[in-house]
Amino acid sequence: MATPTAPIEIIDADYYQNNGYPFHIWDKLRKDSPVAYCEHPNLVPFYAISRYQDIVEISRQPMLFESAPLLVVQPQRMAEQQIRSIINMDPPDHRSYRKIMSKYFTKKRLNESQPQMDLVAEQILDAVAAKGQEVDFVNEVSKILPLAVIAELLGLPMEDRDQFFQWTNEVVGALDPDFAREDGTQGTELALKAIQEVFEYCTAFADERRKNPTDDLTSVLANAKIDGEYLPPFELLSYIFILIIAGNETTRNATSGGMLALMEHPEQMQYAIEHPEALDNMVEEIVRWTSPIIHFCRTPNKDVTLHGVNIKAGEHIAMFYPSANRDDSVFTDPYKFDILRTPNQHLGYGIGEHLCLGAHLARIELRAIFKGVLNRVQNVELTSQPDRLKSSLIGGIKSLPVKMDFAA
Ligand code: HEM
Repeated sequence: MATPTAPIEIIDADYYQNNGYPFHIWDKLRKDSPVAYCEHPNLVPFYAISRYQDIVEISRQPMLFESAPLLVVQPQRMAEQQIRSIINMDPPDHRSYRKIMSKYFTKKRLNESQPQMDLVAEQILDAVAAKGQEVDFVNEVSKILPLAVIAELLGLPMEDRDQFFQWTNEVVGALDPDFAREDGTQGTELALKAIQEVFEYCTAFADERRKNPTDDLTSVLANAKIDGEYLPPFELLSYIFILIIAGNETTRNATSGGMLALMEHPEQMQYAIEHPEALDNMVEEIVRWTSPIIHFCRTPNKDVTLHGVNIKAGEHIAMFYPSANRDDSVFTDPYKFDILRTPNQHLGYGIGEHLCLGAHLARIELRAIFKGVLNRVQNVELTSQPDRLKSSLIGGIKSLPVKMDFAA
């Protein structure tokens, strides 16, 4: 049997920027070709996995389907220069490294910071209200809380936070001309340069925290030991870096995408305003609906056969989370945005060995923002189309122009 192929649109950053998610293609792949080979001229080739159950099974076998060889489908040159952090480590290292941070990201611990988070969200919305009705929701709302929170957790100085925001945009949005530097640096060059600059900054910062620890997470990482040894410099810097990137890019886009979904479904927004008790459920549905991470990769270390397709050891597979989150064998009426959906075991945060470390943090941030918005906004509408990021890793929204009427 010939190996089925997948259209390159599913990995084409231009497609995502111009059209959003290719749901119609994923629907067809899930139905007819759940494992499909895809070869984009500029990227490493891979097999696309589109069904929910397959992603679950692959993610739960980290000893066979490794994360280290390739994290995201990218140009070969980038693939050769990956960072080394928990997200692309395999057991047993993965478990030792994850253990260092896991106690700071538990539900119990993070729930304690909900009131503080709600307060910050209130301040963000006060500032928006003071500005007037027409705002870019991304710039004025979505980007602020995740950036402030992760910067605070890591102890990054206030005055350097915008610089970190720029670096994360440059890494994740390297292909997007909007993030090109004035000197013309863009694409792979830009991503590598931004990573180098973050590493230089964080080398000095982590050194300082090793000498003079405070109560922030950079101090925890800089002073952590595995088998009696400090983390090697590259692994330490990669750890800080992944927390900054993951802490920023995902929650910001879930917030923007969630706001867009509510505007497109005014009856759901009205229900949420009248039923504050639906907040937690709504936040889960927002993450299923928006699925801000488009894909992550795995690489089997033995030959495997999936749905009749032979994948050789060392070949890559990419798991498409938004596709899994529209799988009708799991979700009733998957194309309905339903803030009361239950059960809602979506894969927006992944599953298994690498289940999102920051999932509870993302939840409390999203609760804080949407509680604030729904509490006081009387009306909110889109004033022009959202501007999307050129990326096939993150479903990014760069700007979301809205008109907001606040309650007096
Ligand atoms: C809505 C927001 C978020 C979404 C949709 C999301 C999505 C994901 C996904 C899909 C994975 C799985 C990776 C894999 O299986 O290969 C992951 C892992 C991870 N996420 Fe998140 N994430 C979010 C927020 C955050 C935040 C706020 C942090 C902040 C610290 C964070 C930190 C991480 C880390 C460190 C990992 C790697 C965990 C591991 O390898 O053990 N994420 N995330």
